[in-house]
Amino acid sequence: MFESNLFNILDLLVMDHNYQKKCCLVLKDAHVDKKLKASYARSLVDTLLHHTKAEEQAVYNILKMSGIFSPIITESEVDHKIINSRFNLLMPKINSEEELDDETETELKVLSKFIENHLKTEEKDLFRLMKKNLNQKILNEMGHEFFRLRNYTPKDLEDHPELQAQLAKDKRIEAHQLNI
Ligand SMILES: [Fe+2]
Ligand SMILES: [Fe+2]
Repeated sequence: MFESNLFNILDLLVMDHNYQKKCCLVLKDAHVDKKLKASYARSLVDTLLHHTKAEEQAVYNILKMSGIFSPIITESEVDHKIINSRFNLLMPKINSEEELDDETETELKVLSKFIENHLKTEEKDLFRLMKKNLNQKILNEMGHEFFRLRNYTPKDLEDHPELQAQLAKDKRIEAHQLNI
């Protein structure tokens, strides 16, 4: 299974990153109306929370034990903490109001720039180190673990039919194991 490269961790992370980048672009755009921004903000929070949790468990926790990776993982963990704590503060407003107020809109714009920078660091510096120091089998194993922990919905994978099929297969196996 791990030989198929379907679960290459770098591809799976990029897939989530691309969606986060799209949300950030909308949240930074002065011409987008506040109602649409509120909906993108809710979607971004949902993706980010699942992504960062699975990323930490499947990638960071393993790599940070190595001296080569430790500095960048420590920096990335701080980024995650900042992103999560800002979103925790903003969430009540984002969830309760259909339209963003001016202050929340600005907060989200600033936070989007921060998130874009975090994604850039991961893709440029962390991925470069991973490509250089980890073989394909490890990248695939990490990806499989990330896929398991990420808690995708079928909708998350609508542009990736092979992964969507794998998700359905995993759910059937899970149901069979639980005897339901
Ligand atoms: Fe990431
Ligand atoms: Fe991250």
